[in-house]
Amino acid sequence: MNGRGAAGIFAFTADNLKAANAILAKYPDGRQQSAVMPLLDLAQRQLGWTSPAVIEYVADFLGLPAIRVWEVVSFYTMYYREPVGKYRLHICTTTPCWLRGSDEVVRACKEKTGLDFGETDENGLFTLLEVECLGACVNAPVLQINDDYYEDLDADRTAALLDALAEGRPPTTGTQAERLNSAPEGGKTTLLESDARC
Ligand code: FES
Repeated sequence: MNGRGAAGIFAFTADNLKAANAILAKYPDGRQQSAVMPLLDLAQRQLGWTSPAVIEYVADFLGLPAIRVWEVVSFYTMYYREPVGKYRLHICTTTPCWLRGSDEVVRACKEKTGLDFGETDENGLFTLLEVECLGACVNAPVLQINDDYYEDLDADRTAALLDALAEGRPPTTGTQAERLNSAPEGGKTTLLESDARC
């Protein structure tokens, strides 16, 4: 059994039960309920989404009222409250990304996939999601696909990313521009002396 059964039934697999108990062991006595987020993440990775059964299960696991777990799940966009596609496209549209062209990223994603926010295609390949700041504004605009970040995007770079995914060619993560991480394009502009120390 892989734990991806009917949405109405959920239990950790034997391996994930072991992993869940290892997560709980990181918390001080009496504070295990603080493990709600990693346990939800573990459950979501098993089932593919955070179903009502997952929420009930995690609540029981931690001895929490289910509403407390619902509050967490409904606050964070990282938890999917509906089944999602193989590739989840989380487009940041918060101000720094917007100023740097996130509208173009949104347009490219919508044109390539034919989806609007919150939708999944018929083949279960892509899900389109709008999210708030992903904490990588230095390389805005940013698109998070599953666990990876793709940065410094424009419409063409976004379209190329989606083509690569659709063709089963995993794209290189991180910046899509000609620069090292978040260093200036064209090379560094400070600390140019060979003996410079920071
Ligand atoms: S505003 Fe988009 S990553 Fe921060």
